[in-house]
Amino acid sequence: MPQPLSLDQLEQTALATLSAVGDGPGLEAWRIEFLGSKGKIKAAMGGIKDVPGPEKPAFGARLNAVSKVLEEAFAARQLALGSSAVRDAGPQLDLTEPGSVVSHATGRGHIISRVREELVEVFARMGFAVAEGPELEDDEHNFIKLNIPPGHPAREATDNFYIDEPAVAGGKARAPRMLRSQTSTVQARVMQARVAEGGGQLREPIKIVSPGRVYRPDTVDATHSFMFHQIEGLCIDRGASMVDLKATLLHFARAYFGSEAEIRLRPTFFPFTEPSAELDLKVRLRPDQPVRWMELGGCGMVHPNVLTSCGIDPQQWQGYAFGFGIERLAMGKYAIPDIRMLYANDLRFLQQS
Ligand code: DAH
Repeated sequence: MPQPLSLDQLEQTALATLSAVGDGPGLEAWRIEFLGSKGKIKAAMGGIKDVPGPEKPAFGARLNAVSKVLEEAFAARQLALGSSAVRDAGPQLDLTEPGSVVSHATGRGHIISRVREELVEVFARMGFAVAEGPELEDDEHNFIKLNIPPGHPAREATDNFYIDEPAVAGGKARAPRMLRSQTSTVQARVMQARVAEGGGQLREPIKIVSPGRVYRPDTVDATHSFMFHQIEGLCIDRGASMVDLKATLLHFARAYFGSEAEIRLRPTFFPFTEPSAELDLKVRLRPDQPVRWMELGGCGMVHPNVLTSCGIDPQQWQGYAFGFGIERLAMGKYAIPDIRMLYANDLRFLQQS
């Protein structure tokens, strides 16, 4: 029959050793030897199974008592050694430890805002100032001043976000209001304002770009949205010609897309320009893509009716205008396959770039 462990002996040895401990590391070594998870008290607990049945309760009680004595003695010794033990246990503050890396989410401009700023900057270098106009417009500026008369198909209620009932509001003094469907509205507003400033006449050339939101009730899909952004350009000057327009657009294309960019004008119709053209851009948008033609927007020479309706004499002043979709440019430049990604506010998308 195995001899039961002598708990008295264990207790005496432990206490004797403890009183000889003089520093932190020694104290820790003692703790591990006697009170640790593989220490002698744990071993004695494991020995209970070898103690004869009738003696088990007494053995268990004595073991608990010894364990308690040793724990208290340990705590007392720790206290007695005090700060010197702590100091001897090694440096508590390691000044060489690398700092923890905390990732702060940094904000950044949305792609549309960034492209818009880039465009404005390129045009600013060509002498274009920024002009803004209201998103809540009236049909006077969205259509009438732009040579889009009543009854024109572009004015259909199904193609525009009217705020007022056209029939009802038409009977009132105020033109029916709408969310603007194009930034060309700003052309009309700027021309009118400059004529008003000039006391009824245009006195200086106009050279502006106007970026902003436009609204159309299109069904949302990969390339359409009920809200998107355009940038409009307008230059009114004596003798401004189609050559100036083309030179400006080519210069813009090369400044923004690189010196290899080409442009192409295809004849088309817009009510507010004559002649009118579609503007295409030939560019390699990314190194891994082939060169291709991409449709950018419309342009042309400002129609004499538009100049007249804004109080400018078309015999003295001529002008050119252009308008592009900013989403289309951004999607081309950053290979974004779906316009909805631009508005979904998905951080995985927004944090790229
Ligand atoms: N406003 C036209 C559109 O939304 C784009 C446009 C075409 C603007 C020709 C212009 C222009 O200034 O001259 O489709």
